[in-house]
Amino acid sequence: MASGKPGAVHLAIAGLLHDVGKAFIPAEILEKPGRLEGEEQVVMRQHVNHGRNILTQQGGFSPEMIDVVAHHHEMLDGSGYPNGLMGNNIKDLVRVLTISDIFAALIEERAYKTAMDNETAYSILESMKGKLDPALLNAFKPIAKETKLAA
Ligand SMILES: [Fe+2]
Ligand SMILES: [Fe+2]
Repeated sequence: MASGKPGAVHLAIAGLLHDVGKAFIPAEILEKPGRLEGEEQVVMRQHVNHGRNILTQQGGFSPEMIDVVAHHHEMLDGSGYPNGLMGNNIKDLVRVLTISDIFAALIEERAYKTAMDNETAYSILESMKGKLDPALLNAFKPIAKETKLAA
């Protein structure tokens, strides 16, 4: 895959692959009807390392893609995981995935929570000051308005 500026194809593949490591997380944690705590959260957070390992072992995935899988839970202020990366150490493609991933989690119905409307979900993203890329968040605004979940 060509490297360089992230394009639509990169983004689509990244969207499909980013949580591939969840295949290694026990179902009772993935599907727990409630908040994860303590050790459960530690196990769940391992999905980014599992994902990185599986793509690296498999071979053929671009560094950009492995970067997304490994770092889509990093935050610009260093408060994310697994490495507490900050600012410029987080690439644009990863930043885009982080924004869309959080948004999707908010508007989806999960075992432990009801779905949130798009506007409320976007306002939560906006409130995450310092953690998400403000320019990308702005560019995401019209998408956030239009997005409908697949049935
Ligand atoms: Fe994830
Ligand atoms: Fe995700």
